[in-house]
Amino acid sequence: AMQGDVLAKERRDLRQQDAKDKADKEAAKTDLGQEWNDPMVAPNERRFASDLRQRQGNGTGAMEVPEWKKIQSGRGELGKRTSLSIKEQRESLPAFKMRKQFLDAVRQYQLLIVVGDTGSGKTTQLTQYLAEDGLANNGMIGCTQPRRVAAMSVAQRVSDEVGCRLGEEVGYTIRFEDKTSSNTKIKYMTDGIMQREILLDPELNKYSVIMLDEAHERTIATDVLFGLLKKTLKKRPDMKLIVTSATLDAEKFSTYFNECPILSIPGRTFPVEIMYSREPESDYLDAALTTVMQIHLTEKPGDILLFLTGKEEIDTSCEILYERMKALGPAVPEMVILPIYGALPSETASRIFEPPPPGGRKVVIATNIAETSITIDGIYFVVDPGFVKQTAYDAKLGMDRLQVTPISQAQAKQRAGRAGRTGPGKCFRLYTETAFQSEMLPTTIPEIQRQNLSNTILMLKAMGINDLLGFDFMDPPPTNTMLTALEELYALSALDDEGLLTRLGRRMADFPMDPALAKSLIMSVELGCSDEMLSIVAMISAVQTVFHRPKDKQQQADQKKARFHDPAGDHLTLLNVYNGWKNAGRNDAWCFENFIQPRNMKRAEDVRKQLVQILERHRLRVVSCGRDTLRVRQALCSGFFRNSARKDPQEGYKTLVEGTPVYMHPASALFGKAAEHVIYHSLVETTREYMHNVTAIEPKWLVEAAPTFFKVAGKDGMGMSKRKKAERIQPLHNRFANEDDWRLSAQKRQG
Ligand code: CDP
Ligand code: MG
Repeated sequence: AMQGDVLAKERRDLRQQDAKDKADKEAAKTDLGQEWNDPMVAPNERRFASDLRQRQGNGTGAMEVPEWKKIQSGRGELGKRTSLSIKEQRESLPAFKMRKQFLDAVRQYQLLIVVGDTGSGKTTQLTQYLAEDGLANNGMIGCTQPRRVAAMSVAQRVSDEVGCRLGEEVGYTIRFEDKTSSNTKIKYMTDGIMQREILLDPELNKYSVIMLDEAHERTIATDVLFGLLKKTLKKRPDMKLIVTSATLDAEKFSTYFNECPILSIPGRTFPVEIMYSREPESDYLDAALTTVMQIHLTEKPGDILLFLTGKEEIDTSCEILYERMKALGPAVPEMVILPIYGALPSETASRIFEPPPPGGRKVVIATNIAETSITIDGIYFVVDPGFVKQTAYDAKLGMDRLQVTPISQAQAKQRAGRAGRTGPGKCFRLYTETAFQSEMLPTTIPEIQRQNLSNTILMLKAMGINDLLGFDFMDPPPTNTMLTALEELYALSALDDEGLLTRLGRRMADFPMDPALAKSLIMSVELGCSDEMLSIVAMISAVQTVFHRPKDKQQQADQKKARFHDPAGDHLTLLNVYNGWKNAGRNDAWCFENFIQPRNMKRAEDVRKQLVQILERHRLRVVSCGRDTLRVRQALCSGFFRNSARKDPQEGYKTLVEGTPVYMHPASALFGKAAEHVIYHSLVETTREYMHNVTAIEPKWLVEAAPTFFKVAGKDGMGMSKRKKAERIQPLHNRFANEDDWRLSAQKRQG
């Protein structure tokens, strides 16, 4: 009953959010049943996930070749589809029938909402129609995507269709990577990039049409762009805005966007049979993989899409499936196993669009990226464990945290729908029907109502938007969330006592990264160690890790890594790696030797160059501190003072801000060392809260870095030595709760 419990708990937690009631109301309006072929529930279905286990367990050796493989020759409709010419493929998409209406509507109206099922051609076709028709002759067509992978893969696809090299007429821009040129006419980008562009040029003069794609995903950046672009449109009567959505949020969007017209692309979907687990699954991963195997061995042809929560889970599952297939031998039909998640390099990602081998089957294991952002043809079976990894603000830790949470009913329906695009499909839900009905929220709560907003608010302030409570949000974030972010920016000295942007704050906004990291980088200039900090910040921002730790050589890899370990911690360890790589002539053999990923080092170096350019724009100098790396640690404190922890006499650490227990990550250079006070870059939750990228510090640096946030303990420290006193620091942030002075003045100004 574990999953049931988890669901019940999450539901309780979520219920407490003030956004909940609203979500309920929304859901009542947008009953997804309309667009949906009524799920045919199979009440007498045996607990489907157990079938294969029995078959594997009875030791009958190789499986029989299933009937369908013997009679199957080719891929029927699918095989035909992939052999279509690009032109035929394009014209077979539902969007094509609406081409003229779409172009007429764009000509007639400044604002347009387009709805249509996923896969109908909104993302890849509408931009091309605009370009072909010359509707966007006075500037680029910009199309935003909530996800980097989607921006890259869609740009690749469209450049193939157009017949140009990627980065020429069709290109993309994501953070730290610009694949566009002066010839670029259609530009795909993340919504975060568009947010930065609008900060630099609020009139967006480079563009003639903006398409806010996948708006139903409701990322913070898209939500903020809603409000910002409404303003831009007033200043640019010649500019057009198209907002696309996959679900039935259209009415709501239209109301918000000045009652603008809605163009609906008629879909063609097939019925999807829904199967529920009879009982809650105790191990959804195991149940998922067993279900995939069972489908592969017993069901008719058609590819499988399995939704999991993240990279690790997906990579592990790919391995397990591979092993299970190997154990079954050559008698069973071939299975091509393909992972897809955000951090996957684009070459690997594009493989998911290739057709499966004749007679075989493709299994795509994806994060929720495949819910709407990416459409894969030929999926007949969906396996849905019912979970997603999402970021939510954790008040206890004072920061955003990635958490595995149950999906909403709307997401479950969207996932199931992926099985009905090519023909009638099946969706295996690894949760009970009761859990679906009574334990899942009807719709997902928009990010803006559940995440830390300091990034966003810094950007709005940098655009001169000070009246945050008056900002035209589609769904305003809770006032408390805004105040927390304001307080955070104040403690970082990005805002002054009046809540207005400081010079430092303006500079921070120009760096495409978290305010804490931006501040550390800027302060490192004053502290005379920006050369070192640049390398560290680049390594942290560019890639998840530069270390390579292959399963069969973990010990060797760890030994090599330990040689880079710096006694002061992980940030300086990263610096040692960077310098080692540079001194070795940026050499791939050196990387191989040291279990370092050369590709990621190159990426980090590229990011570093871009950061140098931003520093130069602000006339901030690149200076080296040589061996005096203590300054680097002080500079880190200026940004990450909130993420500070002290060794607990019992075990692990306790955060200084809330006293929450946290632990040293085993991969840290400080693991097993005696560091009393530390700061960390982030927390990673597995079985416990682990600090990731940790550096040892002196507590007095915290007071120096954030005097408004920390103070040295007062009266109660009377009998202590000076040194002891300096170490007894307390967070001052309660000041806001007790005195309420700053909080009140901030509220007054905004109200
Ligand atoms: O945006 P929407 O969901 O309406 O559809 P789309 O992303 O424009 O996809 C239209 C068609 O292009 C689908 O059949 C996709 O499978 C195909 N496509 C592809 O083959 N490769 C991509 N990288 C993206 C889309
Ligand atoms: Mg799309």
